[in-house]
Amino acid sequence: MWLKPGRHPSCRPGAVQGAGEITSGQRRGARPILAAILALVIFALDTFYDFDIAIAVLYVVVVLMSLGFCKRRGVLAVAAGCAALTVLAFLIQHKADPTGESTGRLLVSLAAIAITSILAIRIEASVALLRAHAALLDLPHDAIFVRSMDDIVTYWNRGAENLYGWSEREAIGNRSVVLTGESNPDEMERAKTELLNNGYWEGERFHAKRDGSPVPVASRWSLQRDESGLPSFILESNTDIGERKRAQDSLAHAQAEVAHVSRVSILGELMASIAHEISQPLAAIVTGGEASLRWLQIQPPQIEEVRLSVERMIGDGRRAGEVVRHLRSLARKDDVKTETVDINETIEDAIDLLRREIALHRVCLKLDLETALPQISGDRIQLQQVFINIIMNSIQAMANVDRERRLVVISRAAADETLVVAISDTGAGFDPVQEQQLFDAFFSTKPDGLGMGLAISRSIIEAHDGRISAARNASTGATFRIILSTRVDQS
Ligand SMILES: Nc1ncnc2c1ncn2[C@@H]1O[C@H](COP(=O)(O)OP(=O)(O)OP(=O)(O)O)[C@@H](O)[C@H]1O
Ligand SMILES: [Mg+2]
Repeated sequence: MWLKPGRHPSCRPGAVQGAGEITSGQRRGARPILAAILALVIFALDTFYDFDIAIAVLYVVVVLMSLGFCKRRGVLAVAAGCAALTVLAFLIQHKADPTGESTGRLLVSLAAIAITSILAIRIEASVALLRAHAALLDLPHDAIFVRSMDDIVTYWNRGAENLYGWSEREAIGNRSVVLTGESNPDEMERAKTELLNNGYWEGERFHAKRDGSPVPVASRWSLQRDESGLPSFILESNTDIGERKRAQDSLAHAQAEVAHVSRVSILGELMASIAHEISQPLAAIVTGGEASLRWLQIQPPQIEEVRLSVERMIGDGRRAGEVVRHLRSLARKDDVKTETVDINETIEDAIDLLRREIALHRVCLKLDLETALPQISGDRIQLQQVFINIIMNSIQAMANVDRERRLVVISRAAADETLVVAISDTGAGFDPVQEQQLFDAFFSTKPDGLGMGLAISRSIIEAHDGRISAARNASTGATFRIILSTRVDQS
């Protein structure tokens, strides 16, 4: 059974004081006096009345009472005192003519006191050990408490007092949901079901302190069952992760800033290509407009030709609009978002922006995207940035090779609710030493390279609970592989 430990053995030196000790301390202060009065009453009865029974056996009550305010030596002293009073009463009453009967009663009483004191010392030793173990639960800063299956708190450590602001005395006997400000009964039920199935549950919860201020905690629950296997108590340990969460948030914010700077610098690099991507459809629109005017000037006006031309113009206008939309979203500075992302679409968006680079470098692109790819949860723009970084690297790695420049992008659903994107090229590749450094910040083999593209890509993928790796191809070039979780409940 979970011990309700004595953080309040107040009459003992070195004992740890808990909150709300005054009344229990007073109660304990009265116990030695009560025990002394009882001993005197027994002595008086034993000395001045001649009972047919061993009245001195009642001293065992005094010995047992001493457990409440004495340690081992004190219990022994009380037992010795009781034995001495028993002998004294015998001497006073029977010294003149000790009978066999009275001597027998004396021996029975002394034996009872001796046996009781031995048992009392044993009990005291095990209680002291249990108290010492239970006091250990006060050492961690974590809030640790025990609650029954109907949520009544039976133990509340000092960490819980500090975290939630309720003292042990106030907490014990209360419902834990009230003390921890737990406000999501559905999630509590789900956690409890898991606890009953596995004997253990852990997760993050949003609690509230006594003053109402919110406190995010990492929570771990363990189930205790009784001898018949029925659930009896839940040990809950909660760690305040507010500070950690704030640090994570500012790290994510800083990473988003770095990613943004890197995106803007990529946009700078791609400016010529982008200008071309926009000017091409614009030029086509102008040409289409001029052609339409000519078709209209002919007698009779060639309405069908005009209609086709205007349709093409609309298509070109949309294409230019798409490029501008991509640019705007890449240039925008946002904190990391969590949205539903279609990875194939993200790859295609990246390719759209790089299309002219691909053409300029005479790269043959093969897109092999699985059609029914499950969606993932993440930040679309940041993931697009990863693909731009990797594909740009591939294009650059193939810039100086004479063989066929082939870029293959494959997406596949994989086992364990994941998806894989593989991007391979036939470029210069890298040696085993470089392979170890590719993802290091500022590692670059390019004269004008910053060496941040892959470092940023890795931090983005890891922030999405994913993995990114690079390997040399058996023949030529390299393959970059990204694994992302498609699990719906990921955060
Ligand atoms: N597909 C690839 N084939 C061969 N080497 C590669 C490939 N991708 C990356 N590398 C190597 O990894 C290095 C680091 O790439 P990373 O994208 O981090 O930086 P960078 O391209 O040099 O500079 P930038 O920060 O401007 O992108 C590159 O300099 C290059 O040596
Ligand atoms: Mg790069």
